[in-house]
Amino acid sequence: MRIGIVGLGVVGLATGVVLAEQGHKIIGVDIDQNKVKGLECKRSPIYEPGLQEMLERYFHNFTFTTDYGLLSDTDLVFITVSTPTIDGKIYLGYVFDAAKRLGDVLKRNDTIVVIKSTVVPGTARKVKEIVKNDVVSNPEFLREGRAILDTKNPDRIVIGSENKEPGDLVENLWKFTNAPVIRTTWEEAEMIKYAANSFLAVKISFINEIANVCEKLKDCDVTVVAKAIGMDKRISPYFLNAGIGWGGSCFPKDTQAIVSFARDLGEELKIVEAAIKVNNERINRVISMLKGFIKEGNVCVLGVAFKPNTDDTRESVAIKLIKTLKSEGYKVVAYDPKAKADEAEMVGLDECIRIADAVIIATEWDEFKGLEEKLRGKFVIDGRRILDPSKMEKGKFKAIGLGE
Ligand code: UDX
Repeated sequence: MRIGIVGLGVVGLATGVVLAEQGHKIIGVDIDQNKVKGLECKRSPIYEPGLQEMLERYFHNFTFTTDYGLLSDTDLVFITVSTPTIDGKIYLGYVFDAAKRLGDVLKRNDTIVVIKSTVVPGTARKVKEIVKNDVVSNPEFLREGRAILDTKNPDRIVIGSENKEPGDLVENLWKFTNAPVIRTTWEEAEMIKYAANSFLAVKISFINEIANVCEKLKDCDVTVVAKAIGMDKRISPYFLNAGIGWGGSCFPKDTQAIVSFARDLGEELKIVEAAIKVNNERINRVISMLKGFIKEGNVCVLGVAFKPNTDDTRESVAIKLIKTLKSEGYKVVAYDPKAKADEAEMVGLDECIRIADAVIIATEWDEFKGLEEKLRGKFVIDGRRILDPSKMEKGKFKAIGLGE
């Protein structure tokens, strides 16, 4: 098929390379000229495992452009533009802009417009009014750092459509994944995405609150508690890692967007609101731990990406931590294997530890596992629970969810 992809962020690129691998011809459109220029030279604009290699391998199936006109004769166009939250509400301008431009250029009335961006319920219905062609809602559940793996092996495929045939075509496109398919209405598909992300955010905030209590107890470790409750199939072991909080381009904006969307409908999402509140309090807990060690001095923050295996720092809790540390008067140096932060002086790993009076692990990169020996002599706070407490010096080590 000739497939258009509008918006070349992580979702658009992962979708593109995976479908290019299946032999489809991909026309990738973005308004960012630099990004398009880079892609034309086979340069991925982001670090995402496997992306650069896939881009090079299937480059013959790609066209990159800023010109929507090249989409005029496509079978299907994915909208994968960003949907930021501005002043606590979702901003749909990029989606509607894309829809308007598609409405202007699509020559065939059988080109299907597929919305993959996370959008509040009712959006597909509005996009249909703009483009006139069939619209399918096909939300993306991929995780950054695993974007290609998740696109190839999703837990399920959600397809929301008004008419059967366009939904069938999208279902057929993803058949190679062998994932179970749920056919829904537009609004159900849109709601599923928010409910899924909100539930996961709630799950993390829940275990983070349990961690707070564990810290006050003798001989109590939240990782043991999480492991045991996760063995209950109804709970499951995933997204139960206590830490310094959730960040990234999705959870913070999506939880806020759905809370305000529900409020406009006269409904309060009290549990999601509580999860946001718990998350916003995480950094202050780390600062209190640090103040128990030192009130001033050099702090080394290990990890600035919002999670491992990505260079993405959007809404990264590590960056918020760095800003708070600085406002509290600490001097901050940081190290990350892939990501950069303007907020702190970035140095090498050994240098970062050497300079520091205290080290805080903010992102659980594999490289930071097994650092126990190297950290000897420093005050250490394990914000992501990757160090072995039994190997750490008594009186110099604290960790999220670990009691005395
Ligand atoms: C998320 C959803 O997982 C994905 O389905 C959706 O499509 C987009 O949003 P992503 O933002 O890539 O994906 O990151 P994810 O792996 O979900 O992690 C989000 C945040 O939660 C990170 O800051 C991570 O460090 C934190 N987290 C995750 C925890 O603190 N504990 C956990 O157990 C899991």
